[in-house]
Amino acid sequence: MALSSFFSERPSDLIRRSLLDIENLAREDLEWLLSRSQHHQPMQAEAVKKLNTLRGKTIVNLFFESSTRTRASFEIAAKRLDADTISISAQGSSLSKGETLVDTLNTLSAMRPDAIVMRHAASGAPHFLSRFLPTPIVNAGDGRHEHPTQALLDAITILDNKSSLDGLNVAIIGDIAHSRVARSNVHLLSKFGAKLVLCGPATMLSPNMAHLAERIRLTHNIEDAVTGADVIMMLRVQLERQNMLPFPKNEYFQFYGLGIEHLKLAKSDAIVMHPGPINRGRELSSEVADFPRSMILNQVENGVAVRMAVLERACGVS
Ligand code: NCD
Repeated sequence: MALSSFFSERPSDLIRRSLLDIENLAREDLEWLLSRSQHHQPMQAEAVKKLNTLRGKTIVNLFFESSTRTRASFEIAAKRLDADTISISAQGSSLSKGETLVDTLNTLSAMRPDAIVMRHAASGAPHFLSRFLPTPIVNAGDGRHEHPTQALLDAITILDNKSSLDGLNVAIIGDIAHSRVARSNVHLLSKFGAKLVLCGPATMLSPNMAHLAERIRLTHNIEDAVTGADVIMMLRVQLERQNMLPFPKNEYFQFYGLGIEHLKLAKSDAIVMHPGPINRGRELSSEVADFPRSMILNQVENGVAVRMAVLERACGVS
């Protein structure tokens, strides 16, 4: 098969099964993914965690950026559906021998996997590849652009605690500008009618973020952001995506770290979330990380259910 044969447009079904972002996903696709994820939730606590919907399917996990939870979560999800999986990281792959991204992806596609899960530092990399590859692509995080499965698992975690997303007050606090988690959550939550407050220092919160969706308010004041919140989402400072430190390291917690005292300003049943990895004493105190309404580990648990649903969709079996 000539390499150039990959460079023709793919059938729309392949494009439809890819999960590239939340922004361009139709509401009915989101609703399907959320309800299928919820369907897989109870199984995570069962003694035998195995279905066979992906038996005979092969999933390639390709991570060009570091990851612990997302990578493990995709791998566990695939195994719980009985798929065969392989995981490849950029270190030790042919990319370090000078091969281009397109050639690496074409090489893997030639082995006919049923889906490729990919994380890459370049925003838009999975979108570009999905236009040409004969394999559905699942975006596990592209640069500062989007992290669709994180927003889906965040949504089902909120729905475990609140009856609906519609009308909820959600505060997203931290390094918004460099966060793909913030962007995917803004798109998903606003499609379902949540009211969003984005909060961070001016160097981490561009005024353009206000145009991402309707019902968004920006503030630089954490007390303002958490007041009346139903959900508080904290974000890590994404040092790996910045050329210079956008805020003095030692003062960050003083101004933007979430402490127990802030929770008194939020609703009495407010939950705290964080995509991980957390930096205790930087974006939140240890007391907050470990307090009963902290959902950080519930988010991790729900990640497996979400990725099971996403992989079924990618493989076209559901
Ligand atoms: C996030 C990511 O990689 O974008 N982590 C994750 O996938 N759970 C957030 C982060 O790295 O801070």
